[in-house]
Amino acid sequence: MYTDKVMEHFSNPRNVGQIENPNVVVKVGDPGCGDAVLIFLKIDNNIITDIKYKVYGCGAAIATTSMASTMVMGKSLDEALEVTDEKVAGALGGLPENKQHCSNLAATAIRAAVTRYLHPPEEEVSAS
Ligand code: FES
Repeated sequence: MYTDKVMEHFSNPRNVGQIENPNVVVKVGDPGCGDAVLIFLKIDNNIITDIKYKVYGCGAAIATTSMASTMVMGKSLDEALEVTDEKVAGALGGLPENKQHCSNLAATAIRAAVTRYLHPPEEEVSAS
């Protein structure tokens, strides 16, 4: 039911881990299934110079987060904001109908991280 590309990323996920001193960290969860991703970004001059993550979830959540991380590595923040769940699923050759929502986890987490970096919550601004 999964494409070879999904199986390949699931078996050998890219960029897993965490970044010491990241510019931004965001945790996003899917309340529907309980899966979650913690994403770390290192940003320099509006370019994502490193991305790492920890993901708790199904095989599709792992594969889509891995693929999404490769799609934004070295890219500008504007380009990262254009990564949608459809693009992530498409890059993996598609996902089964009941797994479409899993690609949303990664795309949402990346957009949330970039948005938080660009518009930090008030308390973070005043604390620094
Ligand atoms: Fe939860 Fe796939 S079932 S992200």
